[in-house]
Amino acid sequence: MVKIKTCVFISGKGSNLKNLIINSRDNSFPIKINLIICNNKKAYGINYAKKYRIPYIFINTKMKNYENRILLYLKKYKISFICLAGYMRIISEKILNNYRKRIINIHPSLLPKFKGLETFSRVLKSKEIKTGCTVHFVNKKLDSGSTITQKFFYIKTKDNVEDLKKKTQKLEYRAFPEAIIKIFRD
Ligand code: GAR
Repeated sequence: MVKIKTCVFISGKGSNLKNLIINSRDNSFPIKINLIICNNKKAYGINYAKKYRIPYIFINTKMKNYENRILLYLKKYKISFICLAGYMRIISEKILNNYRKRIINIHPSLLPKFKGLETFSRVLKSKEIKTGCTVHFVNKKLDSGSTITQKFFYIKTKDNVEDLKKKTQKLEYRAFPEAIIKIFRD
């Protein structure tokens, strides 16, 4: 099976990255992670790039024209698919235009509810009965592209922000690989 050359973008802990790396080592999983792009030198997730010997680069998103540098590396590694796994920056139009319907993101809420940051505290505040995660295509608008997969759980009255985070991330580790399989199977 020819695997899709993929780049994962991260900013932090990288637990979804780790999960994708492990899944991608299975022969029947459609993607291979050939490159990791990180915009935070302190991101723990970069340890997974080192551990699994995957090329990685740091990008300073404060630099002018940083998108050109990203595009240069995507080209160098012949990347045709991008996964945003806790990447806390908007993807610029320049990159979107080169990867139309080829960039996906995981978000810790049931979109279109709770776009943006601080999702868990907002979910609790608005007394939702359920929450979960969404994997979606990335477009120009924040957390607004079409949904590929969603998974949910019912919120218990005693759940706090940490509980929601733990339960949501557990679902993310199933949702992200499932979404990727779905895209390349269809
Ligand atoms: C994930 O829960 C993901 O849904 C969220 O960041 C976390 C990253 O965790 N993404 C967003 O909030 C994007 N708006 P990880 O670094 O351990 O994978």
